[in-house]
Amino acid sequence: MNTKLITANPAEVETECLIAFALDHGEDHGENKKPEPRLAVKDPAVEKAVADLIASGEISGKPFETVLLHRPQGLKAKRLLVVSCGKARSFTHVELRKGAGTALRTLKPKMIKSCAFTLPELSSGAEDAGRAIVEGAFVADLDPDTYRSDRKDYSTQEITVVAPAGSDQAKLQSAVDRARIIAESQNFTRGLVNEPSNRLTPTMLADRAQKMCDSVGLKCEIMGPDKIKALKMGAFWSVAQGSDEEPRLIVMRYEPQGAPEKPVLGLIGKGITFDTGGISIKPAEGMEKMKYDMAGGAAMIGAMRAIALLKPKVKVISIVCASENMPSGKAQKPGDVQIAMSGKSIEVINTDAEGRLVLADGLHYARTLGCTHLIDAATLTGAVVVALGYANAGVFANDDDAYKHFTQALDRSGEKFWRMPLDAEYGDMIRSNIADIMNTGGRWGGAITAAMFLKEFVEDTPWLHLDIAGTAWMEENKSWIAKGPSGIAVRSLVEWVKSYEAGK
Ligand code: BES
Ligand code: MN
Ligand code: ZN
Repeated sequence: MNTKLITANPAEVETECLIAFALDHGEDHGENKKPEPRLAVKDPAVEKAVADLIASGEISGKPFETVLLHRPQGLKAKRLLVVSCGKARSFTHVELRKGAGTALRTLKPKMIKSCAFTLPELSSGAEDAGRAIVEGAFVADLDPDTYRSDRKDYSTQEITVVAPAGSDQAKLQSAVDRARIIAESQNFTRGLVNEPSNRLTPTMLADRAQKMCDSVGLKCEIMGPDKIKALKMGAFWSVAQGSDEEPRLIVMRYEPQGAPEKPVLGLIGKGITFDTGGISIKPAEGMEKMKYDMAGGAAMIGAMRAIALLKPKVKVISIVCASENMPSGKAQKPGDVQIAMSGKSIEVINTDAEGRLVLADGLHYARTLGCTHLIDAATLTGAVVVALGYANAGVFANDDDAYKHFTQALDRSGEKFWRMPLDAEYGDMIRSNIADIMNTGGRWGGAITAAMFLKEFVEDTPWLHLDIAGTAWMEENKSWIAKGPSGIAVRSLVEWVKSYEAGK
């Protein structure tokens, strides 16, 4: 998809479809709330073209309703699409991103291959609006029907962002370019997560990471069983040993010239390309979904792509532990004791709690490579879905400053994470009789005991843990994004890294 930025009068833009956003300016007065929809772009010609529509009540202002008008009077555009984005009072880049996505996904099946977005007024500024539109449009353009033989190429060819006269063209262009990098990286992640496990084994995931690194100029090192065993990654290997597919330890490095020696940010991802549960095997129903158990790893690969292209002045090392979790004659069994790379002994109560095992060694390895701040992402527990549902992902932090950086990142990414506790009491739940710790902590607080397990391996290094089990795969279509892999965490990871740039 091509992206163009122009400064023009919206009425003069010749396009297949001009897009304008509408907001509800009506105040809530209990039962008598009256919608007062108004366009979010100040342009007399466009306002005139929708005057009748607004008078008719067909534009409600309700979030993400659309009205398509052909041959709008007084405009050079062939069509005008009005997308409602909710209350004017609460309108931010978050709603705009969804509104832009909704516009694109409304036009896509109609085979409308190009469109032009008017830039709405946003309190955070025009650059933020341009960023949200481009991110929303690129994410909306991707559909997961990769292997359907009746697949039609509905993809949009070109979007234009129409900036009003007097806007800072250079700054807007840079915002648009950067937004495109981030959204394409999120889509890169979504493409990986979408792949079934026979088409994305740990070896193939590593190949894809290697190719991505080659194309953007990142250093990439891929290690197999011998190196994993030589590094004494007993926890990682205990998961990998049950599969005929070899595991891969993927290490991607971004070390830009002029970056300070510290911090070194460590991005660690769970890359289980299929999770059967192992000997503690999962029920058949829904097991096919466990192809997305590498979404944390894929988020790191996507984030590293964006980081390499955006070039922040800060060092980043990313580690993805890629493996299958299979039952077999070679598989580990409940009760087995494993020694992690850090030297800690682990009693494996449930072989289905494999994510924390591979991450234990990934996190420890990141520390040995000199990482000063750690962040991991993993589809780690069903329990986080019980706790937070599908609306929020879980975030855990052992350090308030690192968490503060993350909340700043969320403000920009628009993604939703909710902080969960890490009190010492939960640690008692994973004490073992035979070893230092167990890999499960009983029925209650499962997302927290999983995080407490990881905490054992980060020790005093500032660390964040993102549990994305409920948010990495969407069961329902939204008007702004197709159901399937969401690409959650990519944008927040990139913003988190940027927040550590020298001088920030
Ligand atoms: N990959 C799963 C967690 C998961 C569940 C991801 C649902 C996405 C959707 C993880 O490896 C797992 O199996 N966790 C177990 C842990 C339990 C055995 C302590 C779980 O959540 O049931
Ligand atoms: Mn599992
Ligand atoms: Zn898993």
